[in-house]
Amino acid sequence: MQNTQLREILSEAKDLIAKAASRSETDEARIKFLGKKGKLTEILRSMGALGPDERKALGKRANDARAEIEAMLARKFEEVKAAEHALRFSAETLDVTEPGAEIRLGAKHPITRTIEDISRIFMRMGYSVTEGPEVETVFNNFDALNAAPNHPSREFTDTFYVTKDTLLRTQTSPVQVRTLLSQAPPIKVISPGRCFRVDTADATHSPMFHQVEGLLVDEGVSMADLKGTLDAFAKQMFGSDVKTRFRPHFFPFTEPSAEMDMSCFKCGGRGCRVCKGGGWIEVLGCGMVHPNVLRVGGVDTERYTGFAFGMGVERLAMLRHGIDDIRLFYENDMRFIEQFG
Ligand code: DAH
Repeated sequence: MQNTQLREILSEAKDLIAKAASRSETDEARIKFLGKKGKLTEILRSMGALGPDERKALGKRANDARAEIEAMLARKFEEVKAAEHALRFSAETLDVTEPGAEIRLGAKHPITRTIEDISRIFMRMGYSVTEGPEVETVFNNFDALNAAPNHPSREFTDTFYVTKDTLLRTQTSPVQVRTLLSQAPPIKVISPGRCFRVDTADATHSPMFHQVEGLLVDEGVSMADLKGTLDAFAKQMFGSDVKTRFRPHFFPFTEPSAEMDMSCFKCGGRGCRVCKGGGWIEVLGCGMVHPNVLRVGGVDTERYTGFAFGMGVERLAMLRHGIDDIRLFYENDMRFIEQFG
């Protein structure tokens, strides 16, 4: 009876081992026949009940069967191991002759580049760069900058309010207030950043734009220092040939206030498309810091004076690169941006 069983087990083992396609399947087959509760193991265990002769005869056959199964398992194990290796090697094949994938280099956005160029010029003159938050207090954006309580720019039709007391800054000038409150003179900083105004976008307007602010406070600072500094800036930014002129203007936080024009860097002042025929181009606003502003920062106005200036980054970038629509800066069309790489 055990003889028939042995034959069956052996043929079953042959089939199963032949079908095994992986190391784990081969191992499952081993457990099924040779494991602690395996079929062959059970037969060997049941032999205790047999008589000595019978036990001897069956024992030999059972041991032969075990040896055969073990040999089959060993062969199979080598076979699937080799197959698994081959599969892994082919999956990990590396073609070292394949040409590399081209990495496309990005380009800095023209606004970033313009801010960096402006910053570099002032850094060479000893200015440090500081930044202020885009969400500002009404106090820093208007009150501390000496803006009249009823000034129209305070209206919600002009300014994005976040709460009654906070807004999206309409200019970088509030960084002047922050700087005066946190630093004692001598002060020499510029501050680039985003500004926001309620405006419908068109070729020359955007509700979001960038400015660079400048502030210098020290003993004995005069309008001559302001003019010399900004003239040097214009020459480095647009070419050593440009001339500058200062026109009286009004800003609440400076007194006196001015706008600086430069002679057209394109036509040298004869008149062309860039300067709209006038020969002069408006570049920035500036002035001597109003004593009211200095006092907010606790500056001794008997001892110190200062000048400030503010310029529109988009405007300068458009002038420099002959760009006629401000919206191009924000559409992020790669064909546009890549031209400035
Ligand atoms: N904040 C002004 C604006 O947005 C620009 C400006 C003018 C800034 C004169 C200044 C300045 O610091 O002195 O129009």
